[in-house]
Amino acid sequence: MGSTGERKADHLRICLDEDVEAGGDPGWSGYRFDHRALPGIAFDQIDPSTTLLGRPLAWPFLVGALTGGTERAAHLNGLLALAASAHGCGMVLGSLRPALEDPSVEASYDVRATAPGLPLLLGNIGAAQLAPSGIEGAGIEGRLVALSVRLRLDGIVVHLNPLQEALQPEGDRDWRGLAPRIATLGKALAHEGLALGVKEVGSGFSEATARWIGHLRPALVETAGTGGTSWARVEGLRAPDAARRRAGETFSGWGHPAAESLATLRARAPGVPVVASGGIRTGLDVARAIRLGAAAGAMALPLLRAASEGGAAVDALLRTLRLELRVAMFATGSLTLDDLRRVPMRGPFGARVPFARGRSP
Ligand SMILES: Cc1cc2nc3c(=O)[nH]c(=O)nc-3n(C[C@H](O)[C@H](O)[C@H](O)COP(=O)(O)O)c2cc1C
Repeated sequence: MGSTGERKADHLRICLDEDVEAGGDPGWSGYRFDHRALPGIAFDQIDPSTTLLGRPLAWPFLVGALTGGTERAAHLNGLLALAASAHGCGMVLGSLRPALEDPSVEASYDVRATAPGLPLLLGNIGAAQLAPSGIEGAGIEGRLVALSVRLRLDGIVVHLNPLQEALQPEGDRDWRGLAPRIATLGKALAHEGLALGVKEVGSGFSEATARWIGHLRPALVETAGTGGTSWARVEGLRAPDAARRRAGETFSGWGHPAAESLATLRARAPGVPVVASGGIRTGLDVARAIRLGAAAGAMALPLLRAASEGGAAVDALLRTLRLELRVAMFATGSLTLDDLRRVPMRGPFGARVPFARGRSP
């Protein structure tokens, strides 16, 4: 197993065994729907279906990017894909870097072979791997597009993780010139009818980065704000030296809370569909995110932990999340997600939350 594989195995082990959540508040629980004591609708008629990137989803949810590249990852990916397919939601694969470095592990990402009915499947790559000096070097766009076609992906999500790279002993710390590389990858993907997505991995989006997203206009952006899994903490727990262990803890709550990151992206990158993630833990959080302007929600860590228990646990978690979303819709009198986007909601300090500008496309 190469160093990337070992690192991924470390990440899985630490995320399964340790407390890796930021400790900060992602912000979702600060939002409260007005309760409708007389909803005026029938529960069974509630329809949370939607489309994302033109693909039909039974409800607005994605299994967040988690893993790939090892035997264990192949097993977990298979379980997650089967459950996502059964529940009509989408899935994002973990970073494809291991498959670019070693084609023999490509099969660990081939979840369409196990779950051909998966409505939406996205690949994933770190922005740092697109650097001209990156280990994959020139031609990475073409290789990623070819890999996407082989794996029957609908697109690739580029993850931005500078904090994690800064704290990782073997991290990529030269982030010069990456914005145009991401744009170039977007063009190469578009040529094959594939979508470009961009995401953070747990520190969210500032106003300035959100404005860049508004100019880039990817097919989707995922918030991954502070409050869920903290990559600073994960790298701190993995660190070989005391300095990195302490720095990991110092920066464990760094960034923009997930709910704030969603609002910033909606304001500064209008027209780009936003997937809300970072500390989404219930179907009520998904409902809150939809009301705040997200096109869908995504979750990573609790699904990984469920998958490590087996397919039945993933199935139960997705079933529960979907039920909670539908209960939120019932108790707000919302038959559809568009109805949910127009119901009254209060934010921190009881302030009324304005309706998100336009609907998340
Ligand atoms: C074990 C693990 C591995 C992850 N690997 C990736 C990855 O390869 N690419 C990526 O974009 N995000 C990755 N993430 C980040 C998640 O997709 C997600 O954005 C983040 O964990 C916040 O969601 P959560 O609070 O629900 O975990 C990973 C998360 C976990 C827990």
